[in-house]
Amino acid sequence: MNENPTLLAIESSCDDTSAAVLKGQMLLSCLLSSQRVHEEYGGVVPELASRAHLASIVPTVDAALREAKVAREEIELVAFTRGPGLVGSLLVGISFAKGFALAHGLPLVEVNHLAGHILAPFISTPTRAATVQFPYLSLLVSGGHTQIIRVEGPNSLEILGETIDDAAGEAFDKCAKVMGLPYPGGPHVDRLAQEGNPKAFPLARPLPQGLNFSFSGLKTSFLYLVQRQMEGNPQFITQHQADLCACLQATIIDILTTKLLRAIRLTGIHRVAVGGGVAANSGLRSALEQLASRHNLELHLPERRFTTDNAAMIGIAALFKWRQGLLADHSTPAAPRLKVSSRDALGN
Ligand code: KG4
Ligand code: ZN
Repeated sequence: MNENPTLLAIESSCDDTSAAVLKGQMLLSCLLSSQRVHEEYGGVVPELASRAHLASIVPTVDAALREAKVAREEIELVAFTRGPGLVGSLLVGISFAKGFALAHGLPLVEVNHLAGHILAPFISTPTRAATVQFPYLSLLVSGGHTQIIRVEGPNSLEILGETIDDAAGEAFDKCAKVMGLPYPGGPHVDRLAQEGNPKAFPLARPLPQGLNFSFSGLKTSFLYLVQRQMEGNPQFITQHQADLCACLQATIIDILTTKLLRAIRLTGIHRVAVGGGVAANSGLRSALEQLASRHNLELHLPERRFTTDNAAMIGIAALFKWRQGLLADHSTPAAPRLKVSSRDALGN
């Protein structure tokens, strides 16, 4: 078997259409078409997302092949995200991948989107070779997930802790909405927080037992703080937006790093990788870098473009499955509620 196939990966689980071409672990191109259509609705509208995927999938794949300087005939394997995600969005990527594979007589590999985030540190680029090795702790922080996972190998993982209510990304997005910021709010909070005082206002900092997370109490305390202040000063949000963002971000970072440190102490694993959209947060990245130097950690922080949704991570997860002979077929359906659990092979 060819250990380093040239593969085309498709990711369309939510509101970004992405296509990537890889040669083994080496990324040749990764293109992303982001959907702006949802901004005015304050959240992703599933039907609009599917339609936008339909419009952008062919041009995005074409551009990825062009940038990689790879002809369609040179592709040896097609990978796609099976779930979790929006069913209509997933179906566009899955149908395209199956059609491409059928037309060119290629094998298919299905990938669990979360496995992609967990394995993203294995993406190599011409300027940055991946150096991560198993085992490591993965801090997975996205719009739908907040988990600490012990990753022993591509098929062996254990969820050590996860959120019992909202995800970290949701806390960013919902509090941003309270302040009237556009969706998704995380990047806006990140930008505004840089000018603010993280100690300006007290916020709840829920720390449930063990390694689990909880963010809904923080969201409520943020909402109450804003409502209380607005009663006396209707201009409160505009006058204090940067401070509010800084306090929110600092609290989320504090919760994440406290639990991560606890997981490191409990497992004795000092190698940490971070994934998911919230891993693009500049405050979280610098807090993790400080944590790494203080506690002698081997930290793997993927480039920002590989932490938010992208097809390169789907390609990497597919490569691991391909090497183990785990192929999909044309009857593989979308799985909108697919989970990562310790019993499953990564990506199944
Ligand atoms: O992994 P992702 O792209 O999509 C999934 O949820 O699978 O993550 C999206 C989440 C959103 O909640 C978004 O607000 C958050 O990642 N996010 C950020 C930043 N960039 C994206 N949160 C905080 N700071 C950022 N710079
Ligand atoms: Zn994601």
